[in-house]
Amino acid sequence: MKIAVSFLSIKDNLEDNIQKLEESNIDYLHLDIMDGFFVKNKTWNIDEVKSLIRNVTKPLDVHLMVNNVMEYVSSFSILKPNYITFHYEAVTNHHEVIDYIKKLGIKVGMSIKPNTNVDEIIDYLPKIDLVLVMSVEPGEGGQTFIANSINKINRLSQIRDYYHYGYFIEVDGGINDLTIKDCIKADIVVVGSFITNSSDYQQQIVKLKNN
Ligand code: DX5
Ligand code: ZN
Repeated sequence: MKIAVSFLSIKDNLEDNIQKLEESNIDYLHLDIMDGFFVKNKTWNIDEVKSLIRNVTKPLDVHLMVNNVMEYVSSFSILKPNYITFHYEAVTNHHEVIDYIKKLGIKVGMSIKPNTNVDEIIDYLPKIDLVLVMSVEPGEGGQTFIANSINKINRLSQIRDYYHYGYFIEVDGGINDLTIKDCIKADIVVVGSFITNSSDYQQQIVKLKNN
């Protein structure tokens, strides 16, 4: 299971702490991009992100929590991320967005909020590289894991096996050394506060990897 770390909850010395993540053995750096409309909070614009991660070599996992998906895809594509994930609930032209991200040579993820069920994205599963199951309401870090996310992860795993689809399953929100145990069918877990609220990032990462 791979670990993507979100630095959303880091309140001070952000650049130094991002460097600590760069030096740890996380698999991806997860960028939570919020526009203040799709979710009430607003995070960094592309210039701020470019500066924050200028010394980062870890693969990037961009999570767009925005309404104007196409605009953010084109501006964040310059980071050459491994994944750009947009929210199913944010657009109506899903196939067009998927094709646009793929044309940029970037793997495409689709994220579903806790109240969106797997049946609503069935049509896109053959085309996407990642499904991001939100195990909290998107918009902030430090929330509690929503238990029914486990059923979604397991359902997505069954569908993938049955139809031989190629997407990875990622889960995001409230992941710690206990809730990770319920996510065994996920390929990637996104972890924010469990790691970044601690003084020893590597120690927390080891606790997660030892599950
Ligand atoms: C929430 C973000 C998550 C969040 C995870 O909208 O998408 O990535 O930062 O943080 P924790 O692990 O603290 O729930
Ligand atoms: Zn996220």
